[in-house]
Amino acid sequence: MQQAFIDNDAFQCGYCTPGQILSAVACVREGHAENDADIREYMSGNLCRCAAYPNIVDAIKQAKDATQEARHASLPL
Ligand code: FES
Repeated sequence: MQQAFIDNDAFQCGYCTPGQILSAVACVREGHAENDADIREYMSGNLCRCAAYPNIVDAIKQAKDATQEARHASLPL
C-alpha cells in the first residue's frame, strides 16, 4: 500500500497519510475496494481539505490488484 501511495502521488500531510494508509489496508482486507464508490465510502472517515482523494482511490485499486496477483501467484496448481 505504501508503494501504491508513492506510485500514485497519493500522499497528504504527515498527520493524514498514516491514517489514510492504515484505513486503505483495512479497506482492501475487509473487501470494501470493489469499486470507487465503495472505496470512497469506506475511506470517508479520513477527512482533510487538501484533496488528494482521487489519487488515494487509484492507490487503493493498485494495491488491491497487486495483492490479488500475489495471492494467485502463490496458490498451488
Ligand atoms: S493532508 Fe493533512 S490536513 Fe490535509
